[in-house]
Amino acid sequence: MLWVPIDRTLDISLKRQVYEYLKKLILHGELKAGERLPATREFASQLGISRNVVIEAFEQLLAEGYIIGQQGSGSFVADGAFLERNQEDEQTVFPDIFEEGIKEKDVIDFRSGIPALDMFPRREWGKLAKGVCIETPNSTFGYDHPEGRIELRRILSQYLRRTRGVKCCAEQIVITSGATQAFSLITRLLLYPGDKVIIEDPITFEIQTIFTSTGATLIPVPVDERGIKTDFISNEKEPKFIFVTPSHQFPLGSILPIQRRIQLIQFARANQCYIVEDDYDSEFRYDGEPISSLQGLDSERVIYVGTFSKNLSPALRMGYLVLPQALIERCRKLKWFNDLHTPSLNQMLLAHFIEQGILERHIRKMRKVYMERREVLRKALNREFGQLVEVSGDSTGLHLIAEFKGIEFTSELIERLYQNNVKVYPVEHHAIDKGRHVNKVILGYGNLKINEIEEGVCRLRIIYRGK
Ligand SMILES: Cc1ncc(COP(=O)(O)O)c(C=O)c1O
Repeated sequence: MLWVPIDRTLDISLKRQVYEYLKKLILHGELKAGERLPATREFASQLGISRNVVIEAFEQLLAEGYIIGQQGSGSFVADGAFLERNQEDEQTVFPDIFEEGIKEKDVIDFRSGIPALDMFPRREWGKLAKGVCIETPNSTFGYDHPEGRIELRRILSQYLRRTRGVKCCAEQIVITSGATQAFSLITRLLLYPGDKVIIEDPITFEIQTIFTSTGATLIPVPVDERGIKTDFISNEKEPKFIFVTPSHQFPLGSILPIQRRIQLIQFARANQCYIVEDDYDSEFRYDGEPISSLQGLDSERVIYVGTFSKNLSPALRMGYLVLPQALIERCRKLKWFNDLHTPSLNQMLLAHFIEQGILERHIRKMRKVYMERREVLRKALNREFGQLVEVSGDSTGLHLIAEFKGIEFTSELIERLYQNNVKVYPVEHHAIDKGRHVNKVILGYGNLKINEIEEGVCRLRIIYRGK
C-alpha cells in the first residue's frame, strides 16, 4: 500500500509534501513505469488529508511528466522518469552558514581589502536610492548598453581625471561587476593558450587564477620596497601584457617610483604590449596626496582597472575599465556576452553619489579612520613584539605587512592562531616563486575597530610560544 508521511508541523504545504514524496519514489524507481497510483479519494482518506490536496499534487506530477492520466482509469507512473541515484548527492551535507557565522563571531579577522562595513554611508545611499528610483528616466529599467550608463561614465571620467590623473573620456570607460570582472574581460580579450603575462610576484592568488584560466603562462617578476623590479623584465618574453599594482603593490605595499613607471611604459611601447594597472585602494594614502596613475603617462598602452569595493563596499560589485581606443569595441562585445550590462539603477545611483560629492566626502572621512587604525596596529605590533617584528608597506590602503623574525607561517601555525581566535593571511599564499616570504603576514585593518586591533595583536603573541 502506498504511503506518504505527512507532517503538519512543517512549514511545507501538504500538497508539496505529497508531491515531493511521490516524485522521489518515481525518480528512484521505487514506483515503476506503468504502476498505477491509488484513486485520489481513497488515497486522501488513507492519508487523512483532503482530496483536493491529493488532486493538486497529482496535477503537479502530471504537469512535470512524472505520471500520465488516463481518463476514467486513473493515474500511472510515466515511462522514462527513473534516474539512478547519485551517491555523492545523497551524502552531501551543506554546511549551515548561520552556524558558521556564529562561530566566526569571536574571531578577530585580519583579512585584507575589506573596508569598514559598519561605516558604509547607509543614510546617504538610502536617501539617494529612493530619489533616484523615483526620478530616474524609464530607460533605466530596460535593457541597457553593455559599456554602462553614460551618466556614470561621464562623471567617473571627470572624477578619475581630477583625483587620479587618468587621461580619459567617457567613451573609454566600461562599467564592470567589480575589478574581478574587469580582469576576467581582459583575460578573454587578450589571452590565448600559451600567451605570456609578466606579473608582480607576489600578487593576489585570485588574479593569478583568472589570468591563467585560458591557458596563459605567468612570468613572475619580484617586488622590492619600490615595487616591481623592472630591471628583471627581459625583452625576450614578449608578453601580452604586464600586470602591476603601482599605487600600492598587493600585497607588499610598495609604491612604484616614476623611473620604474617610465621603464615599464618604454618596455610596453617597444614590445607592443599593454600594461594592466590595478588601482584598487589608492585613494587611501596617509602621508600625502594619492599617487597619480600610470595610465596618465600613456593612455594607449595602459588598461586601467578601478573598483568601488574598497572606497565604498565590495557588495556593490561595481568596478570599471578605462581602455585604450583599440580595445573599446571588442570589450563592449565581451561585456555583452558576459552579462549584458551592470545593473543600471545602481549605476545611476553611483553617478549621483559621485556628482553630489558624497563619495569624496566619504573617502576623506574614511582616510582619517583608516590612518588611525593603521597607526594603532603598527604601535601594537611594536609594543608586543619589539625587535621581533618588522612592519613594511607604504602608508596607504587597508593593510600592512608584518614580518616576524625566525618564524615560518605554516598552515599549522595559521591553524593554531585560528584556534586562538585570530585569523591572519600569509604572503606566501600569494607568491608564485615560493619560499621568499614565509615569515610575512598580511594584516588588514580596514574592517577592525581599535579595540579589536589591540586584542587581535595580543592574540598573535602565541606565535613565539613554544619557540
Ligand atoms: C589587488 C586587488 N585588486 C582588486 C580587487 C578588487 O576586486 P573587486 O573589485 O572585484 O571587489 C582586490 C580584492 O580584494 C584585490 O585584492
